[in-house]
Formats: sequence, C-alpha cells, structure tokens
Amino acid sequence: MVKTTISVIKADVGSIAGHMCPYSKMVEYARERLKEAVEARLIKSYYVYYVGDDIGLVITHDKGEENPKVHELAWNIFKEITEKISKPLKLYAAGQDLLKDAFSGNIKGMGPGIAEIEFEERGSDPIIVFAADKTSPGAWNLPLYKIFADPFNTAGLIIDPVLHEGFIFEVMDLREGKNVKLKTPEESYDLLSLIGTVNRYVISRVYRAHDNEIAASASTTRLSYIAGKYVGKDDPVLIIRAQAGFPALGEVLAAFITPHLVPGWMRGSHYGPLMPVSFRKKQNIVSYFDGPPRVIGMGWQISNGVLVGVEDTEPVDLFDDPVWEHSRRIATEIAVYMRTMGEVMPARVEVEEMEYTTLPKVLEKLKNRFK
Ligand code: 13P
Ligand code: 13P
Ligand code: MG
Ligand code: MG
Repeated sequence: MVKTTISVIKADVGSIAGHMCPYSKMVEYARERLKEAVEARLIKSYYVYYVGDDIGLVITHDKGEENPKVHELAWNIFKEITEKISKPLKLYAAGQDLLKDAFSGNIKGMGPGIAEIEFEERGSDPIIVFAADKTSPGAWNLPLYKIFADPFNTAGLIIDPVLHEGFIFEVMDLREGKNVKLKTPEESYDLLSLIGTVNRYVISRVYRAHDNEIAASASTTRLSYIAGKYVGKDDPVLIIRAQAGFPALGEVLAAFITPHLVPGWMRGSHYGPLMPVSFRKKQNIVSYFDGPPRVIGMGWQISNGVLVGVEDTEPVDLFDDPVWEHSRRIATEIAVYMRTMGEVMPARVEVEEMEYTTLPKVLEKLKNRFK
C-alpha cells in the first residue's frame, strides 16, 4: 500500500510592521506555487497558514520523508517570496530564516523549520498540526509529555488497551546532535529529567509502543546551531495523529489549557506564556512585547493522501472554542506579570540563550573597576 507523507515546512521570510505578520501577497504566492505543484503531480494537496510572522506550508504527497524534490519546492517558494516580494517592498527582516544560498538536497539545516511524518493510512486518520510563533522547539516538550504520558491529561492511557502499553519518545540533544529513545511509563522519570531542559533536549518524535507506529513528529531546528551564533528563535511546528489507538483530539488539545512558560517572546530573550489562539479570528498578531508567544491548532482528516478540511483543505480552527478564552485570559495575566520583572531572570532567558546582549561590552568597559 502507498504510504502518505505530510511535510510541514515553515519560514519567516519577512513581515509587516516589525515581527508581526506576513504581507498577504506572500501567502498568495505560496498558494499559487503549491497549486502548480499539485497540477504537476509532485504533491497531492496543500494548505498555507501563517502564525505571527511565520508562513507554513502543509504539503501532502507519497514521496516519503526528506524527499529532495519536495524540500526543494519549499525552499524555492521561500526564496522566491523573499526575492520577488519581501526585498522589493523592504519588508521587515526579509529572508530572515534563509541562512544558506543554494539548495543542497535537504532543507534541514538551511534555516526553515520542518516536521514530517510518513504512515500507512488507517480506516480514518485525523491529523493535527500545531504551529507556534515567538518561541522554540522545546516549547512542545511539556504538552507532548502530557498528551502521550500523563494519565491526568489523557484518559486513554488508562482506559484504551492500545494506549495503555505506553509510548516511545525520541529525544534530541541539540548540542551534541544525538538522539535517545525512552519508553513511558517505565522511563518517565528519566524522560522528564531530560526534557525539563527545554533549550537542549527536545522531543523530536513519539511512537506508539504497541506496534512502533508513528504518533507525532516535531521540528527541531535551532538556527543558532546552524549559524554558529544566536540569530533568533525557531518558531516550531508539530504534527500529531489522533483517535482510535492514539490520544483523542480532545486529549491532545487539553494539554494546552493552562499556558506554560516558554523561551522566546521579545527579541527571543524572554520567558512568556504560550497562548492558544484562533487563526480564523486573526488572533495571531503578536503585539504585546512582540507576544506573548502563541500557538494555532489546525485539524484535518487525511484521505488517500489528500487533506480534507471543513471546506476543501481549510482546516478546523481548533482553538476557536469559547473554552480557550479561559487560557487566553490566564496567558494575558501571566504575560503582564512577567513584564513586571523587566530584564531580571527568570523573566529574561539565560545569558547563553539571548539573541543579543550588551554584557560583553559592559564587562569590557568595567574590567578595570572590578577589584
Ligand atoms: P466517538 O465514540 O464519538 O468516536 O468518540 C470517542 C472519543 O474518542 C471521544 O474523544
Ligand atoms: P521572530 O523570531 O518571530 O522573527 O521574532 C524575532 C523577535 O526578535 C521578536 O521580538
Ligand atoms: Mg521575524
Ligand atoms: Mg516568527
């Protein structure tokens, strides 16, 4: 049977009024190019979203993960948008996430973020894509643990015989570039001791222990490790399969009800609450201190490799339910509270995580005055 691949590839290639949101023509350009790719039978279906200043391409195809043609298509789209739209219009930070000049077979390590998942379709396959702005891949650690390992979040871990066997988490050490797999519930304490360090250890994939079936895949790009210096946050994406042997959609979403603190926000250098927002209501303008960091949730069915949404490929807006107003209010309160601390840790991130800092200059100036 032909397997289905979902590739979510995203980049910030320029924005309006600072790091707020893309220009409409950028999104339209991406749609146009992906429509052509469907007609040319390179891909099967697509959806283009934006969250804050990041544009994301959700692409379905049958070519497997890390396919050079699919990666090149995405790279070219971001490159063309930069050259044809962002630069001529002097958009803010035009081409921000494109760290390399020429495409070399795989978009990983070139700047854009990517999450991919390949699987044999079940009788019915609900798919969720989360996309966040003003934060980094470690932002998913806590919700992924809750969804796949915490029975107080996911009832299925207790009452569904398949989920009851647990999950296998692949954790990436971003500094060393190595992976380790840990099985829950048996190794939950080891897993938690790693993933609490969100800037170094990030969950990249989750598999169902019952049959090793892929359940989730996250982007793990750290621009700073590619560029060799701090160049900005990596605004991550996450793909999750739901229902029937996986956590139910409502269990997946429940992990976002209480906004947790994530690194990012203003200048990529502050901890702020991750606020779940509606994309249809355009609640994804990151305005208060360039934030707070936020996440959108998109839901589809996938059928014979094609995205099925509420209208064509338009997804269900998963955080467009009055219940999330509760989370948004809490996030707003936390955001205002965190700002009362100014540049004092832990409101400000650790010095080695800061996007830019004046500390070396200050130390140089004061070096003879330290007695
Ligand atoms: P249904 O019986 O309607 O499929 O619902 C089951 C479920 O998983 C609810 O979260
Ligand atoms: P982005 O990483 O979303 O471009 O934001 C950068 C920034 O400095 C916001 O204050
Ligand atoms: Mg930006
Ligand atoms: Mg961004």
